[in-house]
Amino acid sequence: MEKTNIAIVGLGTVGSGVARLLLDHGDRTARHAGRTMWLRKAVVRDIEKAKQRMTLPDGVLTDSLDDVINDEEITVVAQLIGGLEPARTIMLKLMESGKDIVTANKALLAEHGPELFDRARQLGRSIAFEASVAGGIPIIANISQCLSANQLQSLEGILNGTSNFIVSQMDEKGSDYADVVAEAQRLGYAEADPTMDVDGTDAAQKLAILAHLAFGATINWNDIPRIGIDGLDPADLRYARELGYRIKLLAVANLTEAGLELSVAPTLLKIGTPLAEVRNAFNAIRAVGDAVGPVFYHGLGAGQMPTASAVVADLIDTAVGRTKLTFQTLEYFCGENPPRAIQRD
Ligand code: NDP
Ligand code: HSE
Repeated sequence: MEKTNIAIVGLGTVGSGVARLLLDHGDRTARHAGRTMWLRKAVVRDIEKAKQRMTLPDGVLTDSLDDVINDEEITVVAQLIGGLEPARTIMLKLMESGKDIVTANKALLAEHGPELFDRARQLGRSIAFEASVAGGIPIIANISQCLSANQLQSLEGILNGTSNFIVSQMDEKGSDYADVVAEAQRLGYAEADPTMDVDGTDAAQKLAILAHLAFGATINWNDIPRIGIDGLDPADLRYARELGYRIKLLAVANLTEAGLELSVAPTLLKIGTPLAEVRNAFNAIRAVGDAVGPVFYHGLGAGQMPTASAVVADLIDTAVGRTKLTFQTLEYFCGENPPRAIQRD
């Protein structure tokens, strides 16, 4: 059976989940890819720390990116470090050395997507990013591929697992805000800086990526008006419940005659409606297309194995050359006449 040599850069929560799937379930990847997905290198900053996190076969761990760059047999790299730098520079270097990329880093794509996708196109490389929005829910593939016969009219989503975990625990168990943030960090849901989760930044970055795909709009995520859950008082949740509502951090994109309206804000949702019942680290997206009508996606939006599930699926797609989707996406990202984006106050 043919073999695709894979490298992982960044062996944190998601990276170690990806390593585990590749090492423990090679049979699955062989079944779907028709080839063995072989974990050849995992690049970390601190080898001793990584050894405490998990045991890898001899020779896999390295603290040198050059071990990947100079290895021509490694063709696909899962780039799983967070933040902007050095993640951006590493991604560029990897593409320049001939590697296709899979990433979960939405902050990087929302900030530097046009530059990275342009460079990928120049180099004939692909960037797959299913895990960057809504963790284990295959929302990128659905919006860019499965719903491509539609003009999407709206997207409404709970896109940040940490925020949803926090409001769920506060609402249902009366938990203390600071305690639940710490629990979300311990469970591997939160960003390295959880401020990005609770102030609406992470949801706005994900909304910008989805809106690029759904509406062809070039959006600066930082222009999306956003309010996080960090200002919520437990009494807000209690009063909402007494009136028959839950409060959820909702990301919205609406195509109107005037343009695209975008926002992220805590929103009252009637108890019993599908988005109101999304709990803990689950995410959900309701999309409305002009042909399909409303469709609803629900699943774990954060956490090690749900996110690893999306990354490994992208690794398989890349290995077998199902990267056409990514290139269509590039055209879209770089489209010349996107709808005008306007903001909703
Ligand atoms: P972690 O902080 O757990 O892991 C990141 C890892 O990258 C750390 O182990 C860190 O090392 C390592 N790292 C940082 N810089 C370098 C470098 N220069 N070379 C090698 N390794 C480096 O983050 P996550 O795994 O949670 O998240 C990774 C990415 O996935 C982020 O972009 C995040 O937004 C995204 N994501 C996360 C999800 C989740 O549920 N956790 C879900 C969906 C997306 P060290 O340990 O030494 O700090
Ligand atoms: N910190 C993010 C969240 C991880 O809580 O949703 C998934 O992107």
